[in-house]
Amino acid sequence: MGQVGTSSTIRPATVSDLDIIDAIEAASFALDRFPRRNLRRMLIRGRTRFWLARCKDEPAGYAGVSFRKGSRVARLYTLAVLPGFKGQGIGVALIEAGIVAAHRADCRCMRLEVRGSNQPARKLYERLGFRLLSRLSSYYEDGETALRYEQSSPVTGDGVEETDPL
Ligand SMILES: CC(C)(COP(=O)(O)OP(=O)(O)OC[C@H]1O[C@@H](n2cnc3c(N)ncnc32)[C@H](O)[C@@H]1OP(=O)(O)O)[C@@H](O)C(=O)NCCC(=O)NCCS
Repeated sequence: MGQVGTSSTIRPATVSDLDIIDAIEAASFALDRFPRRNLRRMLIRGRTRFWLARCKDEPAGYAGVSFRKGSRVARLYTLAVLPGFKGQGIGVALIEAGIVAAHRADCRCMRLEVRGSNQPARKLYERLGFRLLSRLSSYYEDGETALRYEQSSPVTGDGVEETDPL
């Protein structure tokens, strides 16, 4: 089990965590929310791998990284930390779990898209070495531009659990 600080853990998630992941989505996104059926499909199919963070034995956040067959680019597809658990390094730890998995899958980089207005997330990605690749205008349903970031430096990921649940 991966450790975040003293009382948090990160572990791979499975379809049995669907209710928790769906609840974190609902609490974290007013827009861009993944429908539950999509989350379920992704958890079952296994092309997107998920990690769940718990803090003091409560669900605190989750991340999903998608891997496409024949592609060496991993994609940070979703990331959310519940409001009461922000600012404790859980977001960083979830991304690092994904980066470690991408590295082990022989991916050469990780990419993601983020709203230009999402300053907390952008700051976090830039601190982890993600570099701005391109701007995708009208990417989101409400017309907002997405910023595409890429990170290609491996992270050690000390303490991240290695087992693949899918
Ligand atoms: C973006 C998001 C995932 C960040 O999660 P988080 O757990 O708060 O992130 P972290 O704690 O790892 O890092 C954020 C801040 O906490 C600080 N921090 C990191 N470890 C810490 C610790 N042990 N103790 C206190 N603060 C810490 C970081 O320095 C950082 O501060 P900053 O304001 O200087 O950047 C979260 O804000 C979120 O869920 N937002 C809504 C959903 C969203 O926008 N997702 C991304 C879509 S692309």
